[in-house]
Amino acid sequence: MVPHGLIPGKVVHRIDWTPSQFSIAVRADIDPFVAGQFTKLALQNEHGDWVRRAYSIVTPPTEYSLTGDLEFLIVAASQGELSPKLHQLQSGDSVWVAKQPAGFMTIEEVPEYAKQLWLVSSGTAIGPYLSILMAPLLSFEKIVLVHAVREKRDLVYRAQIETQLQRYARRLKYVPIVSRESVSGTLSGRIPALLRDGSLENTAAVSLNPEKSFVYLCGNPAMVKESVQALIEKGLNKHLRRKSGHFSSETYW
Ligand SMILES: Cc1cc2nc3c(=O)[nH]c(=O)nc-3n(C[C@H](O)[C@H](O)[C@H](O)COP(=O)(O)OP(=O)(O)OC[C@H]3O[C@@H](n4cnc5c(N)ncnc54)[C@H](O)[C@@H]3O)c2cc1C
Ligand SMILES: NC(=O)c1ccc[n+]([C@@H]2O[C@H](COP(=O)([O-])OP(=O)(O)OC[C@H]3O[C@@H](n4cnc5c(N)ncnc54)[C@H](OP(=O)(O)O)[C@@H]3O)[C@@H](O)[C@H]2O)c1
Repeated sequence: MVPHGLIPGKVVHRIDWTPSQFSIAVRADIDPFVAGQFTKLALQNEHGDWVRRAYSIVTPPTEYSLTGDLEFLIVAASQGELSPKLHQLQSGDSVWVAKQPAGFMTIEEVPEYAKQLWLVSSGTAIGPYLSILMAPLLSFEKIVLVHAVREKRDLVYRAQIETQLQRYARRLKYVPIVSRESVSGTLSGRIPALLRDGSLENTAAVSLNPEKSFVYLCGNPAMVKESVQALIEKGLNKHLRRKSGHFSSETYW
């Protein structure tokens, strides 16, 4: 029997970015969502057990209401139970989708004082930020999109990011970071060190300031944990719904 909350979906499109990173567009009739939220994808394994995992929605809600398609950016985790199976899906294949989206990494959760928004990601965690940026234009005076990856080829969605850079004019700054290759036009290393030594702020030409900045961190849990320490060292505090602060995070595993 299909577990409660799952509805049928159909893969309508796929993009292969690298041998392990891909996007699938899934047609499914889910409940309304807000840019930055996730839903779950599910398949049955060889024993008939249901395996479901969370995936951030890349598609902005406005586009979903026109097309009915949800795009997800996924990496096939080595030894993973579900993601390698999702990697094998082709157009026309079935996949199950949680009807109810969830998540608090949305613009509504950003406290009112914030004038400068930092969207900091590693790996596939750039996905929810693309939804946020592609949704109706945000009014922040500055938005910094940080994407840290292993190799240049992992810098996905470049065309869509270019479109947003033009749409936001000079208010959006894209800062790609590549850790395992030296690539011109990108920073090299890891986010926590680049926060600590000021390289991220210099490259973005924006300083992290508790009076103006709000930071979202998303992706690799070790990256998030170490970046949180770096932000605390800079005088920023964790944001809680009951006590406003300067950063908030979503970890992918
Ligand atoms: C709120 C939320 C949103 C998420 N959104 C996405 C998304 O948009 N795209 C996406 O690819 N994943 C996303 N994930 C991770 C996803 O839910 C799965 O955990 C992931 O696909 C691995 O599942 P699996 O069954 O293949 O691996 P499992 O058998 O569950 O093995 C998990 C192991 O795989 C590794 N791993 C898991 N996720 C990742 C990842 N994204 N990048 C690198 N290594 C990973 C870790 O070492 C982890 O211990 C999200 C997770 C959460 C909690
Ligand atoms: N990306 C690929 O080419 C590839 C290929 C095959 C399989 N996979 C699978 O995909 C999974 C995820 O790979 P991914 O490249 O998307 O994500 P990832 O391993 O989280 O790497 C993304 C970025 O985060 C950095 N990072 C890792 N640990 C960090 C920490 N503690 N602090 C700060 N930054 C940190 C990485 O730097 P470092 O480079 O310094 O680690 C890299 O720049 C792997 O576990 C593997 O299962 C990926």
